[in-house]
Amino acid sequence: MISYKTLGLVNTREMFEKAVKGGYAIPAFNFNNMEQLQAIVMASVETKSPVILQVSKGARDYANQTLLRYMAEGAVEYAKELGCEKPEIVLHLDHGDSFETCKSCIDMGFSSVMIDGSHLPYEENVALTKKVVEYAHQFDVTVEGELGVLAGVEDEVSAAESHYTKPEEVVDFVTKTGCDSLAISIGTSHGAYKFTPEQCTVDPETGRLLPPPLAFDVLAAIEEQLPGFPIVLHGSSSVPQEDVDTINQNGGKLVAAVGIPEEQLRKASKSAVCKINIDSDSRLAMTAAVRKTLAEKPGEFDPRKYLGPARESMKKLYMHKIINVLGSNDKL
Ligand code: G3H
Ligand code: 13P
Ligand code: ZN
Repeated sequence: MISYKTLGLVNTREMFEKAVKGGYAIPAFNFNNMEQLQAIVMASVETKSPVILQVSKGARDYANQTLLRYMAEGAVEYAKELGCEKPEIVLHLDHGDSFETCKSCIDMGFSSVMIDGSHLPYEENVALTKKVVEYAHQFDVTVEGELGVLAGVEDEVSAAESHYTKPEEVVDFVTKTGCDSLAISIGTSHGAYKFTPEQCTVDPETGRLLPPPLAFDVLAAIEEQLPGFPIVLHGSSSVPQEDVDTINQNGGKLVAAVGIPEEQLRKASKSAVCKINIDSDSRLAMTAAVRKTLAEKPGEFDPRKYLGPARESMKKLYMHKIINVLGSNDKL
């Protein structure tokens, strides 16, 4: 059993309390490799922002969970080396799928875990989440639960309403499970294709797809039920069209990729939403930079020459999110 406290990591409790009170959100960035991690740490140090490093099941399969854990430990030391005296870094399991996975992460030094029982019948979700909370809290590890199912791209927007979190369930869920934060569904979804073209309108000036708005009425109803309780938004990439264009101009083929407009995330950050998950935007920034570099320099085969610009692009993206969207800068 390794305590995250000995690794210099922190849990989310105090971080979320401050974020809710301060009207900003903490960035939760997924990482799978060294360049992503370096970019996240550099961006959070330069902007003086707390940060959540997220590890998904896919990341654990790809990069090995032990290695990722040591990388996160290294991230704390790296942040100090970059001049941050007291980094606030959380190592979080993203979309934990079982008690065993959560326990394994807690035992190896994660400071926060998500148990995603959102696909289960309500009572089963409650029982599973409660079991994880009871284990995690013995070690002061915080737990994110989820209620409501994120809409799939194939869903009609109107039909997606039935997947939204039901505000009348949230108090019962949080009370029974004891979870520390709650991921909700208000119209976001994972990946770079969050809405079908049919669900969008077209901007007459640019010809770009304009997605439907998030269900802020559902968010408001949840906040009314759970005043001040930390709320989490998954699937919050904005799918920058410049990156999509760069990818497509350099041999890629991303057709009708569309995300959540930044002004909506800005609005959400000012509410009880205090953790915003971003993964796809980093993948797009990285892919755009790699494609562009290799297209411009076809003879290049030193990975540092294309992963370096990719790291720089991701750092810029993370800094932009922190300063211009989530507002978590200057909080350390
Ligand atoms: O929630 C999904 C995250 O973007 C992680 O995706 O499972 O492909 O690593 P992944
Ligand atoms: P995006 O695919 O919108 O980046 O969402 C990531 C996420 O929710 C990770 O849990
Ligand atoms: Zn997610």
